[in-house]
Amino acid sequence: MKLVLATSNKGKAREITVMYSDFEVIPYSELISPFEIIEDAPDFKGNALIKARAVYKALGDEEAIVFSDDSGISVEVLDGAPGVFSARYGGEEASDRDNLEKLMREVKKKGFSSSPAFYTAAIAIVCKEGEYTTHGWMYGDVVTEPRGDGGFGYDPCFVPKGYDKTLGELDDGVKSKLSHRSQALANAKPVLGVIRKMRER
Ligand code: IMP
Repeated sequence: MKLVLATSNKGKAREITVMYSDFEVIPYSELISPFEIIEDAPDFKGNALIKARAVYKALGDEEAIVFSDDSGISVEVLDGAPGVFSARYGGEEASDRDNLEKLMREVKKKGFSSSPAFYTAAIAIVCKEGEYTTHGWMYGDVVTEPRGDGGFGYDPCFVPKGYDKTLGELDDGVKSKLSHRSQALANAKPVLGVIRKMRER
């Protein structure tokens, strides 16, 4: 079954493609020109739906199954920030590195060298059969000195619960077992199974 991915984030696309190796995963930018999508919902689920609906509409293909991920990190000593603002924490044009550095700076400003934190991922699926969403979470701590260059985004400062290395240092296999995105994707598989069955009828 073909899934159109409503993201241009290479890190996310890579993880989704690996985990969904039994599907044909196509980034929407290979089908139409990428366009700006305003993600202004107050939560991850709302933003995931905004992205999937926008790409479904722009494709103009009733048969398409569009798949999106909205995710981010919430840090306890920052009262849950950056949360849904994770992608633009360091400013509208911020790179992953700018965002990571701002996060570590803000934790240090509060007088801490680490803090409990968690990642959230919301997956939205939009197709002619309906709209569906699933979630996953990963708990751990953020540290204020980045370590390792694996993963993407905030991974060099995130130590998953039960480990003493950051996601930047751990190999990809560990992240794919533990991550918020892996869990949300695992929860979405039965939904895709039901859509497949409906289409085979
Ligand atoms: P989105 O593309 O609007 O969902 O933004 C997600 C933001 O959270 C980006 O800044 C990502 O770098 C960050 N993020 C989401 N998932 C992860 C992850 O698995 N590792 C590191 N950063 C992540």
